[in-house]
Amino acid sequence: MHNYIQYSKAAGPIGIFDSGYGGLTIYNEIKKLLPQYDYIYLGDNARTPYGTRSFDIVYEFTRQSVCHLFKQGCQLVILACNTASAKALRTIQQVDIPTLDPSRRVLGIIRPTVEFIGDVTKSRHVGVLATEGTIKSRSYPLEIRKLFPEIEVVGEACPMWVPLVETNEHNSDGADFFVKRHIDNLLARDNEIDTIILGCTHYPMLLDKIRKYTPEGITLLTQGAAVAASLKDYLNRHPEMDNLCTKGGETIFCTTEADGKFGDQASLFLQQPIDVKTVTLE
Ligand code: DGL
Repeated sequence: MHNYIQYSKAAGPIGIFDSGYGGLTIYNEIKKLLPQYDYIYLGDNARTPYGTRSFDIVYEFTRQSVCHLFKQGCQLVILACNTASAKALRTIQQVDIPTLDPSRRVLGIIRPTVEFIGDVTKSRHVGVLATEGTIKSRSYPLEIRKLFPEIEVVGEACPMWVPLVETNEHNSDGADFFVKRHIDNLLARDNEIDTIILGCTHYPMLLDKIRKYTPEGITLLTQGAAVAASLKDYLNRHPEMDNLCTKGGETIFCTTEADGKFGDQASLFLQQPIDVKTVTLE
C-alpha cells in the first residue's frame, strides 16, 4: 500500500485519465475552456476496454492509474471515463485518498453530466448509451433519481462501440450495423425518450453515425462541455485546489501502449500531432 508521505505537496498538472482514447474528447473541451492549466493525459490503452471487465479489475486498474498521476505531481485527477467513474470513483474517494494523501482530489464525470439533463429533457424520458459496466452499475439512473426523481431512465449497453473507436473502425461501413442496433434497442424500450446521454467518452467519435440513426427531435448529449464547465466551477469554488494546479498551458500525453500507436490515433481525436510517452503502471 502506498503511503501519503511519498507524495509531494507542490502544485502540479491536472491529471486526466481514461481507459484509452475516449478521455481525449473530454480533454479537448477542458483545454478549450481552461487553456491556462497544465495537464497530464493518461490512457490505459494496453488494457482497454474496461467496459466489459469486472468491478474489482476496473477498480484496481483505475487505482493504479490514479497513483501514477499522483506520483507525477497531480493534486487533482479527473476520471474522464464513465466506467471508471461508475465502478472505482467512490472506493478511491472513500478508501484510497484518505490513505494516499487526504489533500488530493479525484473527480468523476457522471454527476456533472447528469446535472445538465434537467434543463434538456421535456418529456422527462431519458436514454443512456454506455458500456456494459456503466449500464450494469446503474450509476446513471441512481444519480438521475437523486436530482430529478420524476425522470424515467432506460439504458442500453453498446459493447462493440469502444473497440470500434480503439481500432479506428468508427468511420467504417461495418460500424453502422452496431450503431443502429443499439439505438433501435434503446428507443424500442421507451418511445417517449427525447434526450439520449452518450455516457461513454469514446462515443463522440461515433457521433455522425449516431446522429444518422437517431430520429429528429431527440437531443444527443455528449459530456465534454458539461465536464469542462463543472471543472471550471469546481476550481472557482476551491481556490486552495486551484493554487495547487500549475498554469503553464502545457500537456503531457502518456499511454500504457506503444507511444507511436497512441500518437497516431490520438492525433485524429485532437486534430494535431502530439508527443507521447509510454508508461508502466503498477
Ligand atoms: N471511455 C470509457 C467510458 O467512458 C470507455 C470504457 C472502456 O474502456 O470500455 O466508459
